[in-house]
Amino acid sequence: THIDWDVNAAEKGGYEHFMLKEMYEQPKAITDTFSPRIKNGQIEIEELGMSNEEIRRIRKIMVVACGSAAHVGHTSKYIFEGLSRIQVDVDLASEFRYRDPILDDGTLVIVISQSGETADTLAALRESKKRGARVLGIVNVVGSSIAREADNVMYTWAGPEIAVATTKAYSAQLIAVYLLAMKFAHVRGEISDEGLKEMLDDLQALPAQVEMLLNNQENIQRFANRYLAAKDVFFIGRGVDQAISMEGSLKLKEISYIHSEAYAAGELKHGTISLIEEGTLVVAVLTQENLYKKMISNMVEVRTRGAFVMAVTVEGNTEVEKAADYVIYIPETNKYFTNSLAIIPLQLFGYYIALGRGCDVDKPRNLAKSVTVE
Ligand code: G6P
Repeated sequence: THIDWDVNAAEKGGYEHFMLKEMYEQPKAITDTFSPRIKNGQIEIEELGMSNEEIRRIRKIMVVACGSAAHVGHTSKYIFEGLSRIQVDVDLASEFRYRDPILDDGTLVIVISQSGETADTLAALRESKKRGARVLGIVNVVGSSIAREADNVMYTWAGPEIAVATTKAYSAQLIAVYLLAMKFAHVRGEISDEGLKEMLDDLQALPAQVEMLLNNQENIQRFANRYLAAKDVFFIGRGVDQAISMEGSLKLKEISYIHSEAYAAGELKHGTISLIEEGTLVVAVLTQENLYKKMISNMVEVRTRGAFVMAVTVEGNTEVEKAADYVIYIPETNKYFTNSLAIIPLQLFGYYIALGRGCDVDKPRNLAKSVTVE
């Protein structure tokens, strides 16, 4: 009815979709997640409930989640291992719970969930506790089942998320991971006071950088409109950029129904490259300087076979232009934080493709916001 529509429009705060509104709320979600945990230049995560001695005793971290939260898990592996030198395993909750995982009291299990109600993630949490591991939840919905049952809970302060395709909760989850990894690294002596200070400066610069990337929406919309008829899109990246690719690919496919996949770029030649045809869109993510050369050679490989290459890279990497048809630059940041910036154009890209194809952006077919059945 007319009234419903008005109420609905009011809730969307003038945006056409909840997804768009929530994308624009990302600078705030990021700020709200880090600011209460930075005090006098130090990271304080009281709700972690772990002494420095306990943090030093962690031998292994297992990150367990579903969907986009699992993509945050894949990102976290690079960050925890790179910064704190703690070994990390990442698993999908639906796999973890049935595979007899090896856990002990030196294992910290981190479950990540926006809703705090995902059935498989909750079951994985219970299984972990039964096996004697300590469980930390990174959760958005206050008082949800996972928040209640985890030994400790670190909330992401993204606020209510309505669109099925997650954006701001995902961004807030990344921030929670950065804070934990920096804290662990500092306590374990892997980063100095000075190193921590520099990282905190970069962290605090993220909201404004995200804002800037959101303001580039018109260019992305124009580009997306050229690809409304795409049949397959391949996302490629190495290291943490592979994790970003997985999320970029999911955003596109879940709301636009275009088939897309994410690959570790180095794995292309072991099969996937046979799928590249004249005009196939390949999205290359390259935010890690030590891997630029390797990525550029993968881009050349697909381009030689007819692919149209869109690259997402860091300002200054103009070398990429010789191997790409379209380049989106993200501002410079700490190498562990690039996901927070690179994902923004990929979210916008998925959104504008879905919009252009007339899809129900906020409520894609067959999907639920929260999967409480197994
Ligand atoms: C569903 C949602 C995804 C989400 C996943 C895990 O599939 O559509 O956006 O990433 O569940 O949900 P959770 O609430 O546990 O983060």
